[in-house]
Amino acid sequence: MAEVDAQADRRSEGIVINDDWPGYSLDLFNYPTHYSGDLDCVIIPHGVIMDRTERLARNIMDDLGDHDIVVLCVLKGGYQFCADLVERIKALSRNSNHTIPMRVHFIRLRSYLNDQSTEDLHILGAEDLSFLAGKNVLIVEGIVGTGKTMETLLEHVKAFKPKMIKVAGLLVKRVQHSLASVPDYVGFEIPNRFVVGYALDYNEYFRDLNHICIISESGKKKYKV
Ligand code: HPA
Ligand code: MG
Repeated sequence: MAEVDAQADRRSEGIVINDDWPGYSLDLFNYPTHYSGDLDCVIIPHGVIMDRTERLARNIMDDLGDHDIVVLCVLKGGYQFCADLVERIKALSRNSNHTIPMRVHFIRLRSYLNDQSTEDLHILGAEDLSFLAGKNVLIVEGIVGTGKTMETLLEHVKAFKPKMIKVAGLLVKRVQHSLASVPDYVGFEIPNRFVVGYALDYNEYFRDLNHICIISESGKKKYKV
């Protein structure tokens, strides 16, 4: 994505989940019973998320491990991915001589109501990011849809003159007319459907679900605002 510095590109779309992938039956996994009937299927089990995150941590260390980094966690949807990613980067740092001092900062973005993106994007906690000047910044997002949110955020962050900006997105949706920019580190490329779980919400529900699941039509109705 946007970089102030020239760096060798290491981009991939991650694990590709095709449109015809039916997902796993909910009966094969444990999930909170208060969500029974609200979900269609599990598309990414929690264990697979963790395994992919471990590898992303290694890729990030290989690329950024020579510099101090500031992790910018995009709340709320990115909190679980960010926590698990940072945990794995810390484990790599502990177990090798290849170690990076890391700071973690939180910003909050909100643009979705029900399952629709709204035009007005609110950025909170990003008023003064002057401490990013000259630093390597890793933006961590739970999901990237149209990429509009990410573009707006990148413009905002760039203004504070970091040395380098990289973006890690756990999920990238295959949407039409999506912007050319995609995260530098992608966990999974997924169909253009509304997903919940692993901190991703539908009107604040489902953050307390470990697996990434497809919400059902009745689930959408039940929690609609
Ligand atoms: N789920 C939750 N939040 C989101 C999604 C989604 O599919 N797309 C954009 N924000
Ligand atoms: Mg949300």
